[in-house]
Amino acid sequence: MSRLAQGPAPKRFARIRFVPFGLLAAATLVFYGCGPNTPDGESGAVTSGSAEWPSTFAIGHDATPAQIEALDIDFGPDGAGAPPGSGSVAEGKVVYDTKCVGCHGPTGQEGPNDRLVGREPSEGFPFGERRGIRRTIGNYWPYATTIFDYVTRAMPMTAPGSLTPDEVYAVAAYILFLNEIIPEDAIMNAETLPAVIMPARDRFVPDDRVGGPEVR
Ligand code: HEC
Repeated sequence: MSRLAQGPAPKRFARIRFVPFGLLAAATLVFYGCGPNTPDGESGAVTSGSAEWPSTFAIGHDATPAQIEALDIDFGPDGAGAPPGSGSVAEGKVVYDTKCVGCHGPTGQEGPNDRLVGREPSEGFPFGERRGIRRTIGNYWPYATTIFDYVTRAMPMTAPGSLTPDEVYAVAAYILFLNEIIPEDAIMNAETLPAVIMPARDRFVPDDRVGGPEVR
């Protein structure tokens, strides 16, 4: 194998990210492999597009309220969907130092994974003009609620969904404090987190252009 074909060693967690896509691809193949074909009554051959679909395939069951509730975790910028709970900066430091520090660094800047803390460049918003500027929560994210939503769904990367609402409010408070957006004595909860004004808050507008692909 040539050096070019071997390429650089994959990043440690890059592989994890591709797992769901692999599963999705496998599921899609199964669906296309089985779905459109149904036995033909006379010949026993399998034909597609038959009108003989059964009224039910007798698989699966209606989602229970508990299952729906477990997935209903979106937290909008206006605070809609915010779960009860709260957390302080000090409590967030404990969560961060236990569950996040290994991948995001002691102050959220060192990595090895995404940098979470940083206000530079503090002037202007040159992300579209200059490549290579590190986007952080402090210099780029328009809404503080996204921290809650994203961390609840995806972090820590090795155990997504494992944090309680209190822990997520707390770690959001700590990350906002490290970014010098809220004071050290601030408490984050369903009311205070949506009320935080992020430095990049006014840097985004709804994309209401029409005439191209309308779904972006
Ligand atoms: C095992 C490593 C690992 C751990 C532990 C971990 N993260 Fe992450 N984190 C990542 C990786 C990798 C990404 C980038 C994911 C992507 O781009 O899809 C990321 C992305 C993020 C982002 C989004 C950054 C951005 O600007 O897009 C936030 C916020 C975040 N992590 C917070 C946390 C918090 C809070 C914890 C602890 C509760 C945590 N992470 C624990 C690996 C980790």
